[in-house]
Amino acid sequence: MYKKFLDLGKQPLANKFLTKTEISKKEDFYNLSIGFNKKNNLVSILKTISSKRMFNDKYPYRSSMSETMKNYFYELSKKIIKEFNPSCFLEIGSNDGTLIKNFDKKKSICVEPCKNHAKITTKMGYKTYPKYWNLSLAKKIKKENKKIDLIYSANTISHIHDLTSVFKSAEYVLSKNGILIIEDPSLLECLKLGSYDQFYNEHIHVFSLLSISKLVRKQNMEVYNIETLNTAGGSIRYYIKRKVNKNIRIKKSVLLLLKKEKKHGLDKFKTYQLFGKKIRKSKQKLRKIFINLKKQNKKIISYGATAKSCTVFNYCNLGKNLIDYVVDTTPEKIDKYTPGTHIKIKKYKKNSLNNVDYAFLSAWNFKDEIFNKEKKYIKKGIKFITHTPKPRII
Ligand code: TMP
Repeated sequence: MYKKFLDLGKQPLANKFLTKTEISKKEDFYNLSIGFNKKNNLVSILKTISSKRMFNDKYPYRSSMSETMKNYFYELSKKIIKEFNPSCFLEIGSNDGTLIKNFDKKKSICVEPCKNHAKITTKMGYKTYPKYWNLSLAKKIKKENKKIDLIYSANTISHIHDLTSVFKSAEYVLSKNGILIIEDPSLLECLKLGSYDQFYNEHIHVFSLLSISKLVRKQNMEVYNIETLNTAGGSIRYYIKRKVNKNIRIKKSVLLLLKKEKKHGLDKFKTYQLFGKKIRKSKQKLRKIFINLKKQNKKIISYGATAKSCTVFNYCNLGKNLIDYVVDTTPEKIDKYTPGTHIKIKKYKKNSLNNVDYAFLSAWNFKDEIFNKEKKYIKKGIKFITHTPKPRII
């Protein structure tokens, strides 16, 4: 049973960028509230949207749009090949192939339900299943392929409602000593950073080691190693094996993180109540910053049409009156409008920050990449607005 601790109000689908004709039509909203389940330590959104409505042939997010992610996946592929040298590698949520393109085509399988992305990896020559990850797909894959010894999935499992099915399917498809590696945003980091924008319709869960350990235990699996990462605003990479596989020992990192999460009260409802209180204050502070700057007639844009910023804009009521427009590099988002708030998205250009006074750091998780790219404008005096770890101008 989930207990609610935060209500982020009426929200549209975060990646449903609208065309000019769509903005005059009725938009679908749902109530975004977050709860904690004491039984399995899961923190999840309470009302979920069907996968088919979110992950279809028009899904706009492409990992290759960020240099940080491209480099990150390149380095990760080298690490995986060095440590595991998989004879058959499966990626759940392969998106536009940014990671898998570094793996041998003959030894790799993509699973990607968004057909626009699945088409890309198919074209690249990778065997691609344009399907949702579940037991019936796992059965099909097991039948049609040789033994899979490594499954990897980044920022995908947290998008799936039925987690029992996720881990059951992984267990089913993996070879006897096979390994499952997943990485997703860290709940501890989310609490520390006050990054409530980790929650939107696609991010159904924000995991902790406490919750993942309980979930995999149900399938007779266990987390034997973890790594903390800077990606996606602070993530955890979980290495999971079968319990019967005694060749691999549980690393100290696992015990240390479990201890740390407990110390921060991630297994207690009270912790989340306090987080809820902090976020309600954060909303007031952020609104104040925007309103004060607009009173001074400042030109404010948003840097990146991110899914995360959909939560911030709609929760904090930051609309066209406060944000002049958004800039983004993704072709699918350009010339569209932000969900709910209908702010125009313009194509990012090298001189996009010319004549801009303030830019909201929507893609705050790519701060280093952005600050490096915009050195010239930062020197000239452009300021950024952020809401994390607390609302302020930088
Ligand atoms: P996401 O946070 O929903 O994953 O989306 C990140 C968005 O930010 C994506 O549309 C690309 C955009 N972006 C830029 O436009 N410029 C940048 O420099 C970076 C890093 C991201």
